[in-house]
Amino acid sequence: MLPGLLSLLLLLPALRVSANTVPEPCEVDDEDVRCFCNFTDPEPDWSSALQCISAVEVEIRGGGRSLEQFLKLANTDPKQYADAIKAVRTRRLTVGDARVPAQLLFGALRGLGYSRLRELTLENLEVSGAVPPLPVEAPGPALTALRLRNVSWTVRGAWLAELQQWLKPGLKVLSIVQTQPLVFSCDQLGIFQTLTALDLSDSSGLGEQALPAALCPLKFPALQSLALRNAGVDSLAGVCAALAAAGVQPQSLDLSHNALRPAAPGAPSCVWPRALSDLNLSSTGLEQVPKGLPAKLNRLDLSCNRLSRAPRSDELPEVSTLILDGNPYLDPEAHKHQDQKNSGVQACARSTLALGVSGAAVLLRGAVGFA
Ligand SMILES: *[C@@H]1O[C@H](CO)[C@@H](O)[C@H](O)[C@H]1NC(C)=O
Ligand SMILES: *[C@@H]1O[C@H](CO)[C@@H](O)[C@H](O)[C@H]1NC(C)=O
Ligand SMILES: *[C@@H]1O[C@H](CO)[C@@H](O)[C@H](O)[C@H]1NC(C)=O
Repeated sequence: MLPGLLSLLLLLPALRVSANTVPEPCEVDDEDVRCFCNFTDPEPDWSSALQCISAVEVEIRGGGRSLEQFLKLANTDPKQYADAIKAVRTRRLTVGDARVPAQLLFGALRGLGYSRLRELTLENLEVSGAVPPLPVEAPGPALTALRLRNVSWTVRGAWLAELQQWLKPGLKVLSIVQTQPLVFSCDQLGIFQTLTALDLSDSSGLGEQALPAALCPLKFPALQSLALRNAGVDSLAGVCAALAAAGVQPQSLDLSHNALRPAAPGAPSCVWPRALSDLNLSSTGLEQVPKGLPAKLNRLDLSCNRLSRAPRSDELPEVSTLILDGNPYLDPEAHKHQDQKNSGVQACARSTLALGVSGAAVLLRGAVGFA
């Protein structure tokens, strides 16, 4: 998947360390914890990645290059290097900025099956070509977290189902952000039995219309936390309906950075997931507390909106923690200034003071601010 990793995992015995290596693409910190490689140079010294063997956290950047040249390695049977791979300490690996044949990516996953890797992050990758057939023996690593940001696949909807089959069960955190289009082949997807956190943020084309399909029904039975930040969602009722349709029951729902519009009068209301206790509506352009919120919440974040007066208690759900900072009624001057600087729903002056303070205290803080 990445030359550095491959040299670590598949090529270990074959590596030749070249002499003219200034500057080194890879750097390890003094504690041997973090190793960072930047292979931007047109003729990089791949063997520099050997330094990363002792690091717990490894990040490898490919400078946007194609890794086609390593394709022949994908057919190497990683079993013969199993002991070497087991010795690698890496728990967290980030690979970014490259064009990767799917065959190579999945070949590397297979090698990582022998590793102690727990968290894998892929960023700014273009994955091309078909996914190779699943090998008969145990597949890839036992990840607890898989994070993909801006990863594109030539095999459209099917890639998540494929990827899932190459991982040992036990994934808890899945994040697929900045991905267009966000379409999964739900019928091919297995059940993510242990997945508690799903993040589908920054895919502006999503919206509540495509949401039910992205939240593959009944595939996330253990979900506790769902993030849909900046996901093109514009109606709370729509999100509520999508959650109901998909049968997900999150306790925590992050809808921040979506431009929410007020519910149309007489619009059908929806039954929110029973477990929902934490709702984030920060930076959603709200001018008033929206109608149709769950009746009771533990925490409601309404910060960085356009509330021009303090919400009345009859507008609010029963809530223990209410976050209201960054609304114009609390500090009209600061807000005017912010709007000039950067427009849109993101403009916000947050005070760190208010986070996590109880609702009563936050409201009081607003009042005190004007005293
Ligand atoms: C990698 O190196 C190139 C060239 O030296 C540099 O422009 C780039 O910012 C570096 N990337 C990172 C993530 O450090
Ligand atoms: C997304 O990844 C591609 C490479 O696949 C890269 O060219 C592009 O700059 C990335 N976009 C962002 C916003 O980082
Ligand atoms: C709500 O979302 C905003 C923006 O994404 C974030 O800064 C804030 O920490 C979140 N609030 C809570 C209570 O997690």
